[in-house]
Amino acid sequence: MCENNTEAAKKKVLSCIQPSGMLTLGNYLGALKNWVAMQEEFDCTYAVADLHAITVRQEPAKLRSQIYSTYALLLALGIDPEKHTVFIQSHVPEHSALSWLLSCNTQFGEMARMTQFKDKSAKHPENVNVGLFSYPVLMAADILLYKPDLVPVGHDQKQHLEIARDIAIRFNNKYGDVFTVPEPYIPKIGARVMSLQDPTKKMSKSDDNLNAWVAILDDRDTIIRKFKRAVTDSEAVVRMADEKPGISNLITIYSAVTGKTTQEVEKEFDGKGYGDFKLAVGEAVADTLNPIKERYDEIIKDKKALEQLYKEGANKAERVARKTYFKAMKKVGFVL
Ligand code: TYM
Repeated sequence: MCENNTEAAKKKVLSCIQPSGMLTLGNYLGALKNWVAMQEEFDCTYAVADLHAITVRQEPAKLRSQIYSTYALLLALGIDPEKHTVFIQSHVPEHSALSWLLSCNTQFGEMARMTQFKDKSAKHPENVNVGLFSYPVLMAADILLYKPDLVPVGHDQKQHLEIARDIAIRFNNKYGDVFTVPEPYIPKIGARVMSLQDPTKKMSKSDDNLNAWVAILDDRDTIIRKFKRAVTDSEAVVRMADEKPGISNLITIYSAVTGKTTQEVEKEFDGKGYGDFKLAVGEAVADTLNPIKERYDEIIKDKKALEQLYKEGANKAERVARKTYFKAMKKVGFVL
């Protein structure tokens, strides 16, 4: 088989990440780790979802620097913009444009059911904007433009992915085949990394308590300190159990970064106290994240090189997006 045929046979992967604040260990274990791993086998398209970020208020200068920083972090993780497509969502206008077509084919009730909308609107009652409400439609557009087979995400995006599938199926049934119906790709370990301070809540960069989350770019001492302060329980036995959400979360994190199974972790810390365990988790996480930070610190210095890469990324993405978008427009009845 010639090389071109091999390329054509590759399945497609698409995913995006918001540039809202520092990216966390949750983003890494739930999604980014898979983004990196999937490059070997698949044809991947990854984007910084900057349009999504303004569904909550952003300070312009800070948003701009976070978009740069998120793009640089993707490169530091080892995502290859030469072999794959890595771009900034707002640079490809078809995302917003397709979002309108899809909005007119999505029901109000479907959006109103989204748990993330309910959570976020409760958290920011002063800014329940229409974008926050229709956000999953934009996410559906991000996905469907590139006809991916698989979408690697953490557990919290599962509902949004299901609605993207529903929208695709409905559109195809109504207008003829345009979109591929994608499958979620959710890791077995690490799909739900919980807060270190309240392990019943998801680890999130928007958590005001800085000890609750670990940033991918935290330095070694900070990471270890945050794990030392992690909330646990009084049993002093390292074992996975529903009634031990703090320790269970730490076991999951340790498994995800070391590749050890739950049983192996429980055995390793049998008879040892929580102090030893928390230190080991902190060190293992720092060993995983610190090399990424070192590469990031180099990459972010060269804004010119970054600019060239994201512009090329947008050109590559747009060539694909435009085709799908025009096909959808034509099917709906627009004059092209
Ligand atoms: P975002 O930016 O909130 O998160 C990016 C990815 O990180 C995962 N994630 C987690 N996984 C495990 N544990 C956690 N605590 C944790 N926190 C975050 C998320 O599941 C996600 O995979 N709407 C999306 C971005 C988006 C998108 C898309 C994703 C826009 N368009 C198209 C896929 C396809 C979001 O806000 O993710």
